[in-house]
Amino acid sequence: MRRGLLIFLVAFLVLVSFLVRSVFTLLSLLIEDASADAIHRAELPSPNSSLIEQRPQIIPKIIHQTYKNESIPEVWKEAQRSCLDLHPDYEYILWTNEKARSFIAKEYPWFLETFDNYKFPIQRADSIRYFVLAHYGGTYIDLDDGCNRRLDPLLSYPAWVRRTVPTGISNDAMGSVPQHPFFLRVIEMLQVYDRSWLLPYITVMYSTGPLFLSVIWKEYMQDKPSESARVRILMPDEYNKYTWSFFTHHVGNSWHGKDARLIFWMGQHWFFLTVLGFLLAGAVGLGLWWAYGRLMMWSMKYRYRYSKIPTLVTPPDIPSTRRTRGVMPTLLRRVSFKEDEEAGHITETSYELFSRRD
Ligand SMILES: *[C@@H]1O[C@H](CO)[C@@H](O)[C@H](O)[C@H]1NC(C)=O
Ligand SMILES: *[C@@H]1O[C@H](CO)[C@@H](O)[C@H](O)[C@H]1NC(C)=O
Repeated sequence: MRRGLLIFLVAFLVLVSFLVRSVFTLLSLLIEDASADAIHRAELPSPNSSLIEQRPQIIPKIIHQTYKNESIPEVWKEAQRSCLDLHPDYEYILWTNEKARSFIAKEYPWFLETFDNYKFPIQRADSIRYFVLAHYGGTYIDLDDGCNRRLDPLLSYPAWVRRTVPTGISNDAMGSVPQHPFFLRVIEMLQVYDRSWLLPYITVMYSTGPLFLSVIWKEYMQDKPSESARVRILMPDEYNKYTWSFFTHHVGNSWHGKDARLIFWMGQHWFFLTVLGFLLAGAVGLGLWWAYGRLMMWSMKYRYRYSKIPTLVTPPDIPSTRRTRGVMPTLLRRVSFKEDEEAGHITETSYELFSRRD
């Protein structure tokens, strides 16, 4: 029984330290404003500036998008077209389910099992974008994001992602050189984070989605990456406020139901929901801990009484049948209080109690 307690304690401590660590990273994300790595608007040449031609472009001119098959729904065609039209000189790759799977099978066979076993298709759509960026480099753009201007200025950074409000980074548009250390770490960590978190939403967010990416990013930054390993951040101001922002958001008509509104609401409050999820998990853990502790205490007392009484309370003049009948909680408590007294005294006290009760 003591071993059981020890195992429970160790397991619980591991769980708690994991939760504390995760919550710590989440909390530190909350105060992370990414200003140190922000791509400032002063750095970005205006759309037709001659400056664009002068800056070295290191990210390959490839645009990656994902969809389950080649038939892009009508609602996203306009967004897709806007990117294709602006970048006729870029290679365009649409990663369909079939193409994505054979790419993983060929280039990253160690990941295939995880990839196939993801419960939600969105997890495959999330993870494939990290792999193709790590492998080929280029720019990934969600199918519902249109292009507003050419991506060329962003090709000058080794890697960039977009900041989300209120915190963290998003995985809806990202650029990278091939084999960038950040995306290598991201694909490395996918298996570690492949866990189920009870709620599908948290599971997706934290196994492959923006929350996963944000946590890896936050941890990655603690190692103070060198200039070529830095991940630069495109701030909301840079892509929302100005007419020459890079992307425009197209929301599909299929997203107008109640479900979609809930998902959008969750998307906007993902940070709050995730912290809430962790706190709930922590509270459940503490509750279990408390209950288990009570149970152990109770059963230890119980065992203690049963094992001690026959040796301590052995008045030769009490028939064994009476002794067993006398084993009642009130009497036993009395006996255990007296344990450090002389054996004879205990016997006497117990005997008195037994007689009184009988
Ligand atoms: C850049 O050039 C294109 C084509 O010449 C033109 O349509 C567009 O308006 C220009 N953009 C700006 C911001 O001047
Ligand atoms: C793509 O998937 C949709 C919906 O599942 C289906 O209707 C369509 O026929 C598929 N297109 C191709 C080319 O397989």
